[in-house]
Amino acid sequence: MKTIDELIQDGVTGKRVFVRADLNVPLDGTTITDDGRIRAVAPTIAKLAEAGAKVIVASHLGRPKGAPDPQFSLAPAAVRLGEILGKNVSFATDTVGDSAKATVAALGDGEVTLLENLRFNAGETSKDDAERGAFADALASLADLYVGDGFGAVHRKHASVYDLPSRLPQAAGDLIATEVGVLKKLTDDVQRPYVVVLGGAKVSDKLGVIDNLLEKADRILIGGGMSYTFLKAKGHEVGISLLQEDQIPVCLEYLARAEKRGVEFVLPVDVLVSADFPDLKTKAPANPELVASDAIPADKEGLDIGPKTRELYASKLADAGTVFWNGPMGVFEHPDYANGTRAVAQALLDSPGFTVVGGGDSAAAVRILGFDENAFGHISTGGGASLEYLEGKTLPGLAALED
Ligand code: 3PG
Repeated sequence: MKTIDELIQDGVTGKRVFVRADLNVPLDGTTITDDGRIRAVAPTIAKLAEAGAKVIVASHLGRPKGAPDPQFSLAPAAVRLGEILGKNVSFATDTVGDSAKATVAALGDGEVTLLENLRFNAGETSKDDAERGAFADALASLADLYVGDGFGAVHRKHASVYDLPSRLPQAAGDLIATEVGVLKKLTDDVQRPYVVVLGGAKVSDKLGVIDNLLEKADRILIGGGMSYTFLKAKGHEVGISLLQEDQIPVCLEYLARAEKRGVEFVLPVDVLVSADFPDLKTKAPANPELVASDAIPADKEGLDIGPKTRELYASKLADAGTVFWNGPMGVFEHPDYANGTRAVAQALLDSPGFTVVGGGDSAAAVRILGFDENAFGHISTGGGASLEYLEGKTLPGLAALED
């Protein structure tokens, strides 16, 4: 991969540089609730601007259906990016239309603009190569050079991630270089014990990574919504908890493989349950009940790990040489169900090993719960991307930068 410094050495002054970022940040209306992804890519943008480039930043946000949808506008991200960079960031209200063309044409050396959500154009995510290619052509006509730095989206075979780099001289941004360096450490140079903590709602999202990590990790700790399918597979009733019945056979297979390989596969021993999902807006007290994980009442659902599990997981992390954590332990957005996720975050901080928080909800949780993000070894900006990397898959957005 060519680095951004090499690209700058070749000369970027006065050149239009297209930066594919991942500014897919959580929004409450038009308020950004976690700006981690914007802060993570800002140094790349600043470096290019300082070198005199005309910087065109582009990203997706959410999953609009290939047409403009105001709730997914990137306008708030342009404002926040401007605040972080300490300079004006103009905003194009379309992707390759009149506004984008005019905004790019108006850029002076060292200035920055952000295009509207790339997914407002159906060509961005199309499965049809020609449709994606046509959109990539239109994007390419806006720029002279390409920098791929949207690590969170490199697992997507999308026009701006996969097709566009082959149409322009290109380089990998500093964020991608850092992220790949960290993930390489987790695959090639792992310090043991290697402890993996997986949470989040769906076990089906994590099957590939569990499959791969069963060959590499020493301990796998499971929490969050996905743990109930494993508990059910072990023969426990899980009430009305999240359950993916069709995944039970594969969970059983993984439990058997873990035993055979001597991988400790640890499930919650106690959980906080309730008959009602908590109100995340009002955060009204939820009054959860604490039960053993093999005694979840038929009319209740598990919403966080309990205190014994918190202690157990902290003890399993206490001597870790390496930790990878992806996915919250419960509904951390509500204070009554945040303690499991908080305890895991704290255990990572207390662990002597190299700790990686894998993107998405767990990265947001760390910040929302008030932890100092610099105290962790690395907080990835990629949720699905880091998981797919650890699964050993070829990521289209990285492959495109190798060319
Ligand atoms: C993410 O949030 O993981 C990335 O921004 C990718 O988003 P996507 O899952 O909608 O492609």
